[in-house]
Amino acid sequence: MSADLPSGARLDTGRGGLARLSIDTPTCAAELYLHGAHLCRWQPRNQAHPVLWMSDASRFEAGAPIRGGVPICFPWFGPRAGDPSAPVHGVARISAWTLDGVTLEASGAIIARLSLDGGAPAIPHVPQDLHLAYELHLGRDLSMALTVTNRGGVPATFEEALHTYFSVGDVRRVTVAGLEGATYADKVDGGTRKSQSDELVTIGAETDRLYLDTGATVTLTDPGLGRRLRVEKTGSRSTVVWNPWIAKSRAMPDFGDDEWPGMICIETANASANAVTLPPHASHTMTAAINVTAI
Ligand code: BG6
Repeated sequence: MSADLPSGARLDTGRGGLARLSIDTPTCAAELYLHGAHLCRWQPRNQAHPVLWMSDASRFEAGAPIRGGVPICFPWFGPRAGDPSAPVHGVARISAWTLDGVTLEASGAIIARLSLDGGAPAIPHVPQDLHLAYELHLGRDLSMALTVTNRGGVPATFEEALHTYFSVGDVRRVTVAGLEGATYADKVDGGTRKSQSDELVTIGAETDRLYLDTGATVTLTDPGLGRRLRVEKTGSRSTVVWNPWIAKSRAMPDFGDDEWPGMICIETANASANAVTLPPHASHTMTAAINVTAI
C-alpha cells in the first residue's frame, strides 16, 4: 500500500526485520510496528524527549512482546485464568496485524487503521469470532481507539488494555491525579482490595495496581521533564498503574536493570471485574487520548 501513503508516512523495515510504519510530519515523529499494532514512538514536535518509554533491552521478534510503547493486551489481561501456558496479556501484542489504511487529516495528524481477526485456528483458547479494529491519530496529540466486534452468534467476554508506557524524568518524583476515591486490587499485596482515598498516586516501591470502576481522566505530573501528560479515556472502566522497581526489573530479561526510574505505565483497560461481555453482532470501543503540556 506504499503508493497510497500520505506525505510524511512510509512503510519500512524496523528493528528485528519487522514491518513498521514510520511517521515524520510537522506535528510529530512516530513508529508503529505491524507486529502487535505496537506504537513504539510518539514524539510531538514541541517535545525534546519522547513521550513513550521504550526499553533498550526490548526484543523485536515475531512471537515475542515488545517492551515499552503501547502494547495491546487482548483478549485477557495478565496470565490467562486456568491456563498457565497461554501468553501473558493475550495474543494481540504478539500477532501480525493488517494495516488497512493511512490518511492525513486537516490538523496535520496521520490516521493509521489496523485490524486483527480474533485468533487464527492455531492459537488455542482465543475467541474466533472477535474482530479488532485499531485507529490511531498521531499528531500534536495522540489518540488510540480499539474496537472489538463480536461476529459470532453467542455472547463473548474479553479483557483489554492499551498498556501505555510513559517516559518520565524520575518516577520517584511524579504524581498521578484522577484516581482519588477509586478502589484498586493491589497486585503486589496478593490482589488485596484497597482504596486510594483522597491521595495522589506516588511511586516509592514496586507498584502494580488495577483500579476498578473508574472512567476518570488521569494526569501525570513530571517535574523531571517539566511536563504534564493527560490521559482521557472512554469505554474503559479500569486503569492500571505499574512500575516494577528494582527486583522485578532485574528478573525481566527484556527490561534493563536500571531502567525503572525512567518509566511508568498508566494503562487504559477493562480487566477483571470490568471485563466486557459483547452480545452477538455488537461492538465495543475503548479510547485513550494523550495530551502533553509544559509545567
Ligand atoms: C502490567 C501488569 O500491566 O504489566 C503487571 O499489571 C505486569 O503485573 C506488567 O508485570 C508487565 O507484563 P509483561 O507481560 O509485559 O511483562
